[in-house]
Amino acid sequence: MILAGGLATRLRPLTLVTNKHLLPVYNKPMIYYPMEVMKTLGIKEVLLSTSPDHSGEFTNLLGAGEQFNLKLYYAIQKNPKGGIAHAISLAKEFVSNDKLIVILGDNIFDGGVIKTAVKKFNKNSHGAMIFGVKIPTKTKQYGVIEVDKDGTVLSIEEKPEHPKSDIIQTGIYLYDHRVFDFIKKLKPSARGELEVTDLNNFYLKEGSLTCGFIDWWIDAGTSYDELLRANNLVAEKVTK
Ligand code: G1P
Repeated sequence: MILAGGLATRLRPLTLVTNKHLLPVYNKPMIYYPMEVMKTLGIKEVLLSTSPDHSGEFTNLLGAGEQFNLKLYYAIQKNPKGGIAHAISLAKEFVSNDKLIVILGDNIFDGGVIKTAVKKFNKNSHGAMIFGVKIPTKTKQYGVIEVDKDGTVLSIEEKPEHPKSDIIQTGIYLYDHRVFDFIKKLKPSARGELEVTDLNNFYLKEGSLTCGFIDWWIDAGTSYDELLRANNLVAEKVTK
């Protein structure tokens, strides 16, 4: 599943008349990057969730997914403030008893790096997996993962006032089908959303959460500066 909804207020006025996932990142619309990751991972069917206002633009651009060699389906998230976990709940019928990979549509990273982990996860009977990335300085903007020296997750906190580590939670999540039962138990956070961090904490408490690490990743939708950084980094990689 790729999440491409939301209001993207942090990127206004760029997002006043369009969806942030359609903004350019160097030579492609942002949404192409997670679509390419799905293709790299060998995933055959993708559900893309977006808001009613912009769904037509996505179907115009991506159609049924032919250009990425996969089957693309759409889910409409009527409440753009529902949060990530709410958007994931829209995939219940799509997933059925299968496993699910969720990628936030503004996350840019190299899909090849997680391929082995995804294959391995698919063979597990149950559980969830998240991916962390080390950043140069601690920040309050993201989910923060605290791990011990063996890489075992000790805690995950959403935008904490005092981050316990310099490892942030990326927008790549793997779940077993029980994720939909856990989402039903979630309560809205202080910002009124069903938080993916609260969801991941169910798995952590159960002892079935693992964490992989990647070395480069950008959330291009966080701010103008991150969007600019994404453009520059992709340009560097493409022209190298
Ligand atoms: C969301 C998650 C956060 C994660 C981030 C990664 O934040 O809640 O834990 O670190 O995505 O992109 P949001 O974009 O909703 O602020």
